[in-house]
Amino acid sequence: MDESSPPQVNEPRTAPAPGPVQPVEGQPRSERPVRGIGRRKFLSWGWKALGIGLLVEAGWTTYDILNPRPSGAFGGVFPAGAVSDYGDGVVQYFQDGRMYVTSSEGSLVALYQKCPHLGCRVPFCESSGRFECPCHGSIYNIRGEYIQGPAPRGMDRFPLKINSGAVLVDTGTIVEGPPRGVHTAPTTAKGPSCIGSTGQPGSSPGPSTTESPGMNMESPGVSP
Ligand code: FES
Repeated sequence: MDESSPPQVNEPRTAPAPGPVQPVEGQPRSERPVRGIGRRKFLSWGWKALGIGLLVEAGWTTYDILNPRPSGAFGGVFPAGAVSDYGDGVVQYFQDGRMYVTSSEGSLVALYQKCPHLGCRVPFCESSGRFECPCHGSIYNIRGEYIQGPAPRGMDRFPLKINSGAVLVDTGTIVEGPPRGVHTAPTTAKGPSCIGSTGQPGSSPGPSTTESPGMNMESPGVSP
């Protein structure tokens, strides 16, 4: 080495910064990488996921068909007697169906026993002719329409139909009760309240249970 030339310094090599992967000329588009995953592999995973989803859906549908809702119990179609049993003003309670069927203003309505406020069971008060919730004092008329109290709406209900004179209630479909202010039947009490004159829990609270919320749909009353 020439001693007059400057000394050589071994500089560390710097790798080029990573950048977007450029397609290779002549390479098919399907084999070009997509963010580190080959396009072909990406599509393969997508098809597999779709196939698994379809299998799960098919399995669930088959299970649903082979396990229909029980008839005559809550969650299925519940027989609520003969239409001839329902004169005007009649209220019948079906404990196993968790509902009431009431007759008024020329039609029948099936009411879910669960209060739409916080889920207590709402008894029917014979003396006042209204449904009165013992938990927080919500009151509904004979058709389950809201009158007073903290409930956000009228009592929820179930679709009801009459088949060859038999009253059938679909307790597997809960229909949201009418909004406050909707009244198709009288709201005034025909006698003393079962929970006190103020409509608040009072002297004789009825039994109550708490249930989970249900789903929402619309259902009219059915004429007997
Ligand atoms: S649960 Fe009925 S008024 Fe609160």
